[in-house]
Amino acid sequence: MMHIDVISVMPELLEGPFAHSILKRAADKGLLQVEVHNLRDYGLGKHRQLDDYQYGGGAGMVMMIEPIAKCIADLQAKRTYDEIIYMTPDGETLDQGIANQLSLKGNLLVLCGHYKGIDERVRQLYVTREISIGDYVLSGGELAAAVLVDSIGRLIPGVLGDESSALTDSFQDGLLAPPVYTRPADYDGHKVPDILLSGNFPKIEEWRYEQSLKRTKERRPDLLSED
Ligand code: ADE
Repeated sequence: MMHIDVISVMPELLEGPFAHSILKRAADKGLLQVEVHNLRDYGLGKHRQLDDYQYGGGAGMVMMIEPIAKCIADLQAKRTYDEIIYMTPDGETLDQGIANQLSLKGNLLVLCGHYKGIDERVRQLYVTREISIGDYVLSGGELAAAVLVDSIGRLIPGVLGDESSALTDSFQDGLLAPPVYTRPADYDGHKVPDILLSGNFPKIEEWRYEQSLKRTKERRPDLLSED
């Protein structure tokens, strides 16, 4: 079973997402175990200090290396990790390709930052991959970690009820997903496209592909010009 361990100074922020999402189903099926570790348990002294002023001066506290190093050492005594990931706005931007790649790994360790950042030596000594979820700054890495872990968890074979549904996601074939409809077939004169009611599956597939292509051209032409 794949393990994802998350190190955080605000573990409460991750309780909701990890207890109720698709990840709960993954845990129940024994496919993925996500555990959050409170960095405060590794803080220094009686105040369990985790951060300090930065050398050279400047606003904002920096997370110290010792608590993080101790926490990582404890976890590494239990498991080996394929990647130690630091969530940071200056990392590589998460996309479906990265999520696919990480879903094939054994165990992952995810480190959430806070304050002004973490001591650079943590990144040099421990971190193997740095991931951002987009060009904006969050107040901590927790919400970003929740996004990352959700995007990975749903790709693990068997996690989604309908095995094929992750394969037909937007981005999975480099295109946006086509529009979908359910009952009623006629809502106040707004009708479902006839083709979807035709039962002609090759034609339906063709229509869906055309719709995907159209939507991608209109909304994300950048996806078509890549590679
Ligand atoms: N921490 C703060 N902002 C972030 C972002 N955009 N992505 C990942 N981690 C972050």
